[in-house]
Amino acid sequence: VSRIISVETFDFVAFGGTGDLVRRKLLPALFQRDVVGQIEGPTRIIGVARAHMTREEYRAFARTAIEAHVKEAERDPQALEHFLDRLDYVAVDALGDSGWADLGKLLNLEPDRIRVFYLATSPDLFGGICQRLGAAGLVTDKARVVVEKPVGKNLKSANVVNKAVGAVFPEQSIFRIDHYLGKETVQNLMALRFANALFEPIWNAAHIDHVQITVAESLGVEGRGGYYDTAGALRDMVQNHILQLLCLVAMEPPSSLDANSVRDEKLKVLKALKPIDESNVDHLTVRGQYTAGASEGGPAAGYLEEIGKPESRTETFVALKAEIGNWRWAGTPFYLRSGKRLAQRCSEIVISFRPIPFSIFGDGAGPIARNELVIRLQPDEGVKLHLMIKDPGPGGMRLRRVPLDMSFAEAFAVRNPDAYERLIMDVVRGNQTLFMRRDEVEQAWRWIDPILEAWAQAPDGPKAYRSGTWGPSAAIALIERDGRTWHEDG
Ligand code: BG6
Repeated sequence: VSRIISVETFDFVAFGGTGDLVRRKLLPALFQRDVVGQIEGPTRIIGVARAHMTREEYRAFARTAIEAHVKEAERDPQALEHFLDRLDYVAVDALGDSGWADLGKLLNLEPDRIRVFYLATSPDLFGGICQRLGAAGLVTDKARVVVEKPVGKNLKSANVVNKAVGAVFPEQSIFRIDHYLGKETVQNLMALRFANALFEPIWNAAHIDHVQITVAESLGVEGRGGYYDTAGALRDMVQNHILQLLCLVAMEPPSSLDANSVRDEKLKVLKALKPIDESNVDHLTVRGQYTAGASEGGPAAGYLEEIGKPESRTETFVALKAEIGNWRWAGTPFYLRSGKRLAQRCSEIVISFRPIPFSIFGDGAGPIARNELVIRLQPDEGVKLHLMIKDPGPGGMRLRRVPLDMSFAEAFAVRNPDAYERLIMDVVRGNQTLFMRRDEVEQAWRWIDPILEAWAQAPDGPKAYRSGTWGPSAAIALIERDGRTWHEDG
């Protein structure tokens, strides 16, 4: 039975209240937390967007969202009615004057409550919304703001956003969300590393040959082409999710789980990343763009047809070889890759250990594969440790690679909560451990910017890859050139 830490009554204000994120993630997450009783008392959830809508219409919108995104078995009708009763709606023009007074009136009915302002809008609006929240006197001591990624498009624009948000909210009230940090398996990385004596002594370049981080998606851009085409895979996935995973794998042990102890260590990793710029970008990075092919069993259109922009050079796939210049990691490359419309949805971290120094077994025993620790983020969450063992039977000493296999679904008979459930509750509780600090976001851009600049100057755009494959062949060459291969399940 999972332990529930109940939270104080709060008001949750969702800007972009009729948008995709609210529909797909935030309302379902809040509903789930309500069902388990983590949300108590008269907590209110207030949708805010430009369109005029009554409270009843917004409740109908939320009902549809929950019916679409929460499994039927998890939707008790009474619980749903109880949840919908919490909902209200205010039409506000984020960059104009209308609606702010109405929002103020509603919130000020409960002046002492925790207020969460969740900005599920385009980042261009973050600064303006914060400024208006401040001007309307809505930023109380118990107010917190959540900003979605991407924070900016590069270091310069991230600075502008951070400055505008920081002019109204103190850093300890700003929650820069990276939903990967709320995934159970990602949090498990910290448990695996720091709650076991086994791994930490060998968690370094002397024993680890290389690390792979793959976040592969089978879907395409799914109607988000307008945003995606201005971003691309490097900004959309690597600058945040993948670098955060890299930090959790590579950081030194923090002295506690306190937010700043963890974030200080992650920041050091980001600072130690060796620069990639026009001098080495061709050698260390590969970008791709999907063309027509197959996806999840059916035919799939190419990226350019999908977004209707035949000249776009936006990458939908990226693979790169990153290196961390410090004592722990010098000589251990981190191969990172992410893409859309790949062969399957699969996110994992692979720690590949160095080969044994000497074999006592003859040729007849077969090859001795390296030990690998595979942390599978999704789907089929789990941890596998690949070991060499003797093949059973009397046929002499033959060796075989077999995993010690821990599947979360088999080990724990509980529903795996969505990342947003955990993270929203952390915001209410004021716990920033799983959120990015300003300097982290900016440092990540400092590493990403020169890659983007070098790509922009390159004569060629991304390499084409067929939907339903593992990306351009150059991505395979990137790792095979070093005598290594991308991990395949098994
Ligand atoms: C988002 C990206 O941050 O993460 C999307 O903007 C991507 O493009 C998504 O699809 C992947 O998240 P998940 O949780 O489905 O792996």
